[in-house]
Amino acid sequence: MKKNIVILGTQWGDEGKGKIVDYLSKKSSYVVRYHGGHNAGHTLVVNTKKIILHLIPSGLLHTNVIGIISNGVVISISELIKEIEMLKKNSFIINKRLFISQSAALILPFHIAMDVAREKKLGINAIGTTGRGIGPAYEDKIARRSLRIGDLKNEKQLSIKLKKIVNYYNDQLVYIYKHEPFNYKVILKDLLKAKNIIDDMIADTTIMLHNAIKNQKTIIFEGAQGSLLDIDHGTYPYVTSSNSTIGGVITGTGVGPKNLNYILGVTKSYSTRVGNGPFPTEVFNSIDDYLTKKGNEFGSTTGRKRRTGWLDGVALRYSVKLNSLSALCITKLDVLDGLKEIKICTAYQDINTLKIYSSLSFFNLTNIKPIYETYPGWMENTSGVQNIEDLPNAARHYIKCIEKIAKVPVHIISTGPDRNDTILIKNIFL
Ligand code: IMP
Repeated sequence: MKKNIVILGTQWGDEGKGKIVDYLSKKSSYVVRYHGGHNAGHTLVVNTKKIILHLIPSGLLHTNVIGIISNGVVISISELIKEIEMLKKNSFIINKRLFISQSAALILPFHIAMDVAREKKLGINAIGTTGRGIGPAYEDKIARRSLRIGDLKNEKQLSIKLKKIVNYYNDQLVYIYKHEPFNYKVILKDLLKAKNIIDDMIADTTIMLHNAIKNQKTIIFEGAQGSLLDIDHGTYPYVTSSNSTIGGVITGTGVGPKNLNYILGVTKSYSTRVGNGPFPTEVFNSIDDYLTKKGNEFGSTTGRKRRTGWLDGVALRYSVKLNSLSALCITKLDVLDGLKEIKICTAYQDINTLKIYSSLSFFNLTNIKPIYETYPGWMENTSGVQNIEDLPNAARHYIKCIEKIAKVPVHIISTGPDRNDTILIKNIFL
């Protein structure tokens, strides 16, 4: 049976989704980015070469795959072109293999300026955004004033709309944030130049996907960020501005829920988060140093050091429910090699009332401390292991405990950054 697969993050992003999308893409026909923008950073290692993609679907590295950037994504065209050039330089042929929805909203230079200016003004209360203009671009979409990819097709209309929106932003940027004004003619010139490069890629991607489904093609929907950064269900206001949970697939592509056959939640074997906001299982000192160094926990988009912590089973159960997960993929298992003991948080305790919570609610995410179960670690090297039988007993026990706590099976384990460093417990295409 052909399956349409959603791959999304269960934590605060950076779970290693890009590698898993790339790994599963060899058996699929389409890979679709459906939300977020170039705030995402998907690191892939192909034949020892490191490729970082922010906007282009990770599956495009396979020549059999057609990549789609659908309507739910906010697109910086200059970033998109940079990425296309980078892929070409690395000998990836993308001609006639990348399509962009005409309905996707644009990220323009004033969105970035506004994002950065607001964060600066917020000081210690800043969200800690990636500074890529994501929030302002989604605001414009909801306020119905966005420029969309399809607007590039009509130069006259584009010019009128652009002038209007540049004035709207200049009013605020110049008077409130003391920023230099933007000149719409300069932006227009850049957009028209860019249009010539991407013109052939602009398509009705919803129709393309409906046809792909009709023709029984396998589609992978590639999530960005993670469920706890979801605008509705995440740790608001410390979230991104799109739906990184399952609903984002449906609104972000125009594909209905009956056509989503398998939903894989990618979970790091521990936790990380970049930016500010609640993080109940955060660790400091030597464990933080260990995870940061061994896991190379620095953002692939901004280079910021990620905060680290133990796996949060309460948050994981919440993500399982939010997304109707079919199964989990556990990544970076090898990072835990060499730790004497490993912990998973199974409940939160209110530090004032001592009440215990086994499920996550945003009424109880402050003033809580994590309750942990502690498991024995392993000293063996698991990097690159490809069979579950070759994992140390303690590592297999750890995976079993995750399954028990999350109440869903683990179908894939990643033991390193390369495509081949992967244990496939269940062939999900069957
Ligand atoms: P924004 O998406 O740039 O507005 O940032 C909002 C929050 O989401 C910040 O805490 C960012 O660090 C976080 N964020 C956005 N994209 C990613 C990602 O791809 N991985 C991890 N965190 C992200």
